[in-house]
Amino acid sequence: MFDFLKNSKPTALETIPKHIGIIMDGNGRWAKKRMQPRVFGHKAGMDALQDITLMSSEIGVKVLTVYAFSTENWSRPEDEVSFIMKLPVDFFDKYVPKLHENNVKIQMMGERNRLPEDTLKALDDACQLTKNNTGLILNFALNYGGRAELTLAIREISKKVSQGEIKPEEITEEVIANHLMTSDLPDLYQNPDLIIRTSGEIRLSNFLPWQSAYSEFYFTPVFWPDFNQEEYTKALEEYSHRQRRFGKV
Ligand code: FPP
Repeated sequence: MFDFLKNSKPTALETIPKHIGIIMDGNGRWAKKRMQPRVFGHKAGMDALQDITLMSSEIGVKVLTVYAFSTENWSRPEDEVSFIMKLPVDFFDKYVPKLHENNVKIQMMGERNRLPEDTLKALDDACQLTKNNTGLILNFALNYGGRAELTLAIREISKKVSQGEIKPEEITEEVIANHLMTSDLPDLYQNPDLIIRTSGEIRLSNFLPWQSAYSEFYFTPVFWPDFNQEEYTKALEEYSHRQRRFGKV
C-alpha cells in the first residue's frame, strides 16, 4: 500500500487524480550516466512503467496516458527508433500477463500508418486480450502528436460540414473533443487532471494540448527509470494540495 494513503485521511482518496498523463523522459540520460547505450534506458523505462501502472491501479486512478513515442521521435537514429518499436513486443510477453491479472485495460492512441506491423500486432493483441477488463486504462500515446491530432480532427469535421452532415455553427467544444484521439476513453476521463514530466524538462512537447487546458502539472528532475513509488507519492501529494478552480473563483 502507498505510504501516502496509509498516513492520510480517508478523504485523501478523493484527491487521487482520475486521469494522469505522463511524459516519460530521461531514459537516454539515465543510461548515459551508467555508461550504457540509450536503449538500456528504454528497457529500464519499461520496468518503471510497469510499477507505476500497478500502483496507479491500486490507488484507483482510472486512466494513465503515457507518451511512449511522439510524431517527432522519428528523427532519432534509426536503430533507436527500431528498438523502441520492438518494445511493445517485449511488453506483450513480459508485462501484459500481470497487467491483465490486475484487470488493467490497454488502449492505444496515435497514427497507426507509420508503425511497423509487428509493433501494431503486439499492441492490438494486448488491447484485444484486455478489452473486457474494467480497471485502470493504460493508454499508450504512440506515434502521437497533439497538433497532428487536431489537424486530423479539423479535417474530419470539415468533411462533415462539406457533406452537409453538420453546420459550422453546430461545431462545439464537445464536437471537437469527440473527434480527438482521446474520444476512445470514457467521457468523464478524457482530460488529464495531472500531467507529470520527468527529467527536468519543463514543457509539454505536443502532448495533449487540447486536453491539458485545465490540467495540473508536476515536473521533476528525476529520470524516468528512477521514477518509483516514492517519487510518484511526491507528485500525488503535491497534487492533493492544489486547488483546481477551472477558471472560477
Ligand atoms: C524519452 O526518453 C523516452 C522515450 C522516447 C521512450 C519511452 C518509452 C518507454 C518508457 C517504453 C514504452 C513502452 C511501450 C510498450 C511502447 P529520452 O530517450 O528522450 O531520454 P533523454 O531525454 O535522456 O534522451
